[in-house]
Amino acid sequence: MSTADIGLIGLAVMGSNLALNIAEKGYTIAVHNRSPWRIDEFVAEAKAEGLDGKTVPKYDPAEFVQAVKAPRSIIIMVKAGKPVDEMIEQLLPLLEKGDAIIECGNSLFTDTQRRFDYLTPKGIGYLGVGVSGGEEGARHGPSIMVGGSKEQWHNAEAVLTTIAAKFNGESCCAYLGEGGAGHFVKTIHNGIEYGDMQMIAEVYGVMRDGPGMSPGECADVFKEWNKGPLNSYLIEITGHVLAAVDGDTGKPLVELILDKAGQKGTGVWSAIAAQQMGVPATAIEGAVAARSISSRKEERVAAEAIYGKRSAGKADVTLADLEKALLAGKIVSYAQGFAVIAKASEENGWNLPLATIAKIWRAGCIIRSRFLDQMSAAYEKGGNVNLLVVPNFVTLMKDAHPSLRKVVAAAAVGEFPMICLSAALSYFDSYRQARGTANLIRWSARFLWCAWLRDCRPWDRSARYVAFDAG
Ligand code: 6PG
Repeated sequence: MSTADIGLIGLAVMGSNLALNIAEKGYTIAVHNRSPWRIDEFVAEAKAEGLDGKTVPKYDPAEFVQAVKAPRSIIIMVKAGKPVDEMIEQLLPLLEKGDAIIECGNSLFTDTQRRFDYLTPKGIGYLGVGVSGGEEGARHGPSIMVGGSKEQWHNAEAVLTTIAAKFNGESCCAYLGEGGAGHFVKTIHNGIEYGDMQMIAEVYGVMRDGPGMSPGECADVFKEWNKGPLNSYLIEITGHVLAAVDGDTGKPLVELILDKAGQKGTGVWSAIAAQQMGVPATAIEGAVAARSISSRKEERVAAEAIYGKRSAGKADVTLADLEKALLAGKIVSYAQGFAVIAKASEENGWNLPLATIAKIWRAGCIIRSRFLDQMSAAYEKGGNVNLLVVPNFVTLMKDAHPSLRKVVAAAAVGEFPMICLSAALSYFDSYRQARGTANLIRWSARFLWCAWLRDCRPWDRSARYVAFDAG
């Protein structure tokens, strides 16, 4: 008998937390997992939370599909890539026209688009959904970025908007556009997340290695900043992370963690998408590059032995400068991220609502912040313009960019690496200058062409004297 409002396959931590969230909100959910022992574990977890009455565990895929009321909404929460394709093939013969697969992993948006194009002619809906907020978010309210089949979205709309985080009572879940739109927006969310984290790390580096602040002292600064314009989840958890002490050694936990960061893909995809569309996203690119450099620990150790340790220990900046620099860098980074989204929307005909995107990022997701509320208001009024020319942000930037400049300059002199903040500053300075220097690039390019012409056609030596238009 079909009793479940929705189904979910893939009971690893994100999937099981999402299922418990759905059950807690009063919906009946059928669940399935390839390894049966994980279904047993989930049943025990649901029971412990008093949610067993709302969950329908199924060990057989066909029985699982039959347990969901038609038209069916089936969430799949498996590892991005090949497992998603395999799961689709497994489900396909079991589904009926009008049913939908809702894929909630961190998938590459072009894969999502391909799956959407494959399933749509078969009458099966495909929703590529970005879910942000980690394990906690999945359990208690994530930010949900929906893309894909609009018709089938309406079948799952009530469940997804109910389980999402709320900001001032508004659900942080929205349908954004067709095909790969939801996963594209999630990818850029992660790119922005990379930028935020990197800029925070750069500022922490100045505090740690400049005046030699302890992790606890740095934690207090971040906790204080979280009360001001930088108020956000990432600033908040930075305060907690820096304050954490290892139970065994009594040492600050952050000092026991190796300074190498990897990545699962979304940061790189953001940078590639930006480059492919010709949209500068230098803060995201810088953040990705910084992680790559960090992962080459052995090379860094060897290079330090050659060049010596940083010579100037100090950075001549105040904590207030660092706070404003972070704010300015963040504005630039978000301006770039939204510009990438706007361009992708135009190129793919997605008609992505920038104000809505900023709204559904105000709670639940990793980059949630007070700042996004101002941003959604700016996009509601201003349309698809670069954030750097929206009045509220102009005021903020005018106030904060001198500090960003001071911090980047001090970092350069003091030999502190600042890939992301310096990229943000250079972007800002390039974007705001009416007269640039590309005239020289154009001129040089023409000169090279003419030099080639001269060499290949020696009878036409006059080519080298062509007068150039330097415009
Ligand atoms: C989220 C996060 C989450 C994770 C990313 C990035 O929105 O909940 O973005 O998806 O942090 O997968 O992971 P990496 O930093 O390891 O690439």
